[in-house]
Amino acid sequence: MNSGNDKTSYANNSSFQNFVISKTWDLVDEALRNIIESDGFSGCCMNMVDMGCASGPNALWVASHVMESIQDFYNTGNSGLPEIRFFLNDLPGNDFNSLFKLVEDFNEEKRLVCGSIRSGCFVYGLPGSFYTRLFPTKSLHFAYSSCSLHWLSQVPQGLERENKENIYIVLTSPPEVLEAYAEQYRRDLFAFLSTRGEEMVRDGRMVLTFVGRKCEDLSSRDESVHLTMLSQTLLEMVVQGLLERDDLYSFNVPIYMPCQQEVESIINHQGSFKIDKIVVFPARWDANKYADELPFDKNRSGKLVADCIRAFMEPMLVSHFGKSIDCDFLFQRYAERVGEHLAKERSSAYQMLSISLSMS
Ligand SMILES: C[S@@+](CC[C@H](N)C(=O)[O-])C[C@H]1O[C@@H](n2cnc3c(N)ncnc32)[C@H](O)[C@@H]1O
Repeated sequence: MNSGNDKTSYANNSSFQNFVISKTWDLVDEALRNIIESDGFSGCCMNMVDMGCASGPNALWVASHVMESIQDFYNTGNSGLPEIRFFLNDLPGNDFNSLFKLVEDFNEEKRLVCGSIRSGCFVYGLPGSFYTRLFPTKSLHFAYSSCSLHWLSQVPQGLERENKENIYIVLTSPPEVLEAYAEQYRRDLFAFLSTRGEEMVRDGRMVLTFVGRKCEDLSSRDESVHLTMLSQTLLEMVVQGLLERDDLYSFNVPIYMPCQQEVESIINHQGSFKIDKIVVFPARWDANKYADELPFDKNRSGKLVADCIRAFMEPMLVSHFGKSIDCDFLFQRYAERVGEHLAKERSSAYQMLSISLSMS
């Protein structure tokens, strides 16, 4: 993710993810209530984590919501509010410095509202991959993740020759490309579930939200048009001599958008968790807090989508193509493309999957 707080930073371009988080509160509230009401909950301290929290205001928004939800629950007749250890997890390269500054504001706000931090929530940074062990055995009560689990642990092996100018799966991708992505996803999600299964207390819960796809058959419809348009823009830069063709051929994004059946099958096969609820909802590409208040404007929407994608793609592009890649040019052209597309297909949306899980 782009670090810091400037105009291309993730912190300033994550209103789409903010919109997605807002759709998960019902599942979160229900999961927290179930933990507190469960037989095994001792009532003194809860360990919680936001996995793949990045470095913007969204991370602290999740912590605030969790804390308020628990307070509301105890205010309706129960006593003995538990203390919360809330871990902000992301990869070690995440901009934890900016995040820790926001934690200070969060603590100050809670101190004003609650009188002291003790009556609330203690927040910690936790660098590390969520595909590995992060917590001691049977210590975690609640795990949350939004817009992160579609990131693979690595680019699937062996795509360089097969995927040419494409940077993800497209309709014309050979079966080897589809299978390489699907297999990497199976392995990653299996590792995620196994490690969380070891870390969770008996009545622990997870709420996971990520980008998926509608259709089981990967080769029957293009559900990643936004990435196809990015590869077309990169190809245009190759043709103009601004990028090397070989560099484009060896670039693939470590993302996978699974369908609901695929996720269910991996969860059932791995066996540590059972699915309590799945909510599937569309999130328009240009979804954000103001989307429904303003009339559609293809330039504004195109820029909104391009800025959002730039905020998470730029570090990857710079690391692969080198510092000389002109990201201003790339994302300006990309914004125009996206704007034209949205003018024709206004309802273009990601298929979001939100899953509530408990230990089986
Ligand atoms: C699009 S951001 C979502 C951030 C935040 N949850 C939100 O909704 O605004 C995805 C985040 O997942 C993180 N991420 C990707 N793979 C990860 C992994 N294996 N372990 C931990 N974090 C990971 C990325 O570094 C990035 O910060």
